[in-house]
Amino acid sequence: MSRTPQGQRASLDKQPHEVAAMFDGVAARYDLTNTVLSFGRDRFWRRATRAALDLRPGDRVLDVGAGTGVSTEELAHSGAYAVGADLSLGMLYAGKRTRPQVPLLAGDALRLPFADASFDAVTISFALRNVNDTDAALRELARVTRPGGRLVICEFSTPVNPAFRTVYLSYLMRSLPAVARTVSSNPDAYVYLAESIRAWPDQAALAERVRAAGWRSVAWRNLTGGVVALHRAIRMDA
Ligand SMILES: C[S@@+](CC[C@H](N)C(=O)[O-])C[C@H]1O[C@@H](n2cnc3c(N)ncnc32)[C@H](O)[C@@H]1O
Repeated sequence: MSRTPQGQRASLDKQPHEVAAMFDGVAARYDLTNTVLSFGRDRFWRRATRAALDLRPGDRVLDVGAGTGVSTEELAHSGAYAVGADLSLGMLYAGKRTRPQVPLLAGDALRLPFADASFDAVTISFALRNVNDTDAALRELARVTRPGGRLVICEFSTPVNPAFRTVYLSYLMRSLPAVARTVSSNPDAYVYLAESIRAWPDQAALAERVRAAGWRSVAWRNLTGGVVALHRAIRMDA
């Protein structure tokens, strides 16, 4: 964990206590900072995640790494029963204050507090990148999903156009931390954000890891030119 006058950030080995503490520090202004730094695109990415999950009224859907519940709230618009789980109590408390109607509970993506095959669908938005064992998290998501159930991962990815990729990486490494200093309650977390996005597998590499973790029919769709990718998959039969 690095501590500076700008706040604190986790290191790239993503120790759970460091990640949770970093998000505790971000929680107070998380929703606003997201919308500012993404130029409002976060709302579109969330709607696309809900559409990709193809939820029906009455479905049970788990949102892992739900944070303040902003991603969970969007899922409930489908009529499904959506519950969020997160490691950071600070994020969960912020969510309880702003969205008291959204069911949120404390839970680690690597040891989810649910029985096998509890959900028709599971999803994880901008959180898989923060878990220190990606493959174990993908297997744990499969464990709590019923055979034939759906997974959608919404995560930052690799822009497909090389010229746009160069501009985007420059925004990520230079402008984004500077803008975060003006809006976030923990600006240093946004240095971690930039570093962790750069170190994250591209679309094809992540798809391969999803497959290896017990999911079939893996496919992805790029959003905003590949700034974000939605990976979707179906839980293999037992
Ligand atoms: C960038 S926020 C995403 C929040 C929300 N899903 C969204 O779309 O805005 C990432 C969240 O993942 C959570 N997180 C990180 N590691 C986790 C883990 N191992 N288990 C559960 N949540 C985790 C963090 O606490 C944080 O709230």
